[in-house]
Formats: sequence, C-alpha cells, structure tokens
Amino acid sequence: MTPSGSDKTVAIASDHGGFALKEALRSDLEALGYSVDDMGPDTDDSVDYPDFGRALAEAIADGAAPRGVLVCGSGIGMSIAANRHAGVRAALCHDGLSARLSRQHNDANVLVLGGRLIGVETARDCLRIFLETPFEGGRHGRRVEKLG
Ligand code: RB5
Repeated sequence: MTPSGSDKTVAIASDHGGFALKEALRSDLEALGYSVDDMGPDTDDSVDYPDFGRALAEAIADGAAPRGVLVCGSGIGMSIAANRHAGVRAALCHDGLSARLSRQHNDANVLVLGGRLIGVETARDCLRIFLETPFEGGRHGRRVEKLG
C-alpha cells in the first residue's frame, strides 16, 4: 500500500538492544515512501529504554505521528513504557499474525518488536502488515473505546 497524506509519518525509536533492527526498519520505511521521524538513539551505545519509549509515545499521543515503531531487546520494556500513555496502543508482536491482529482487533498505533528475539525478515513482515492492515471496528471499536 502506498502511504498518503497525513498518514505518511512513522515515528521510530529504540534502545541499544533494538538499535540494529531500528536502523534496518527505518531504511525499509523510507524505501516504502514513508516519512520517518527517527527519535533515536543515533548509536548502539547503552541507553535507557523508558527515555526513548516515552518520547515516541508522547509523539503519538500528541498527534505528531499517527503510527510508531519501538524496538528494545525483548520488546517488553518498550511495551510497558509506551502503554503508560493515554491514547497509545502499543502491541508487542512476534510474527505476521500478531501484527495483523494488533491492527484488526486492537487498532494498535505502535508496533513493538524485540530486536534480540525476532529475525529481521520476520520483523519486516510485522512492519508491512502493521502498516497495511486496517482496523475492523464494530465490536472491536467498542472494546478499544473502553481502553480510554
Ligand atoms: C537492555 O539490556 C534490555 O533490558 C532492553 O533492551 C529491553 O529488553 C527491556 O525490556
């Protein structure tokens, strides 16, 4: 799917454990025509994932970017960090099915990946499916509204 209009921006951030995968996915996003807001870090030096998870979650919550991608070693810390913010629905995904369901059922707006757990090709599948799959709405809409 070709991105268009305000949907074109994707924010991305990681910690050192997710840095290599972030770099690979940023290149993929750019090649697909997305406007990428890389919120860091710029090297694989050790950093604290809550700092980068918070910055990206605030960008989503503020509307600066409609979608985001977070990567840490396991994906767990970034999920916890991002989901502390109202309006952020961050989904830790391990394969294409979890990425598809995160969109269809949960209207996830942040894809979270574990850079030390997932292979790069599976991560690419997750990213593509996350970006292309619409929310189903209906009964899922009612449930997502209850999340606040
Ligand atoms: C960093 O060593 C690691 O703890 C972090 O990347 C992440 O897996 C935390 O959940």
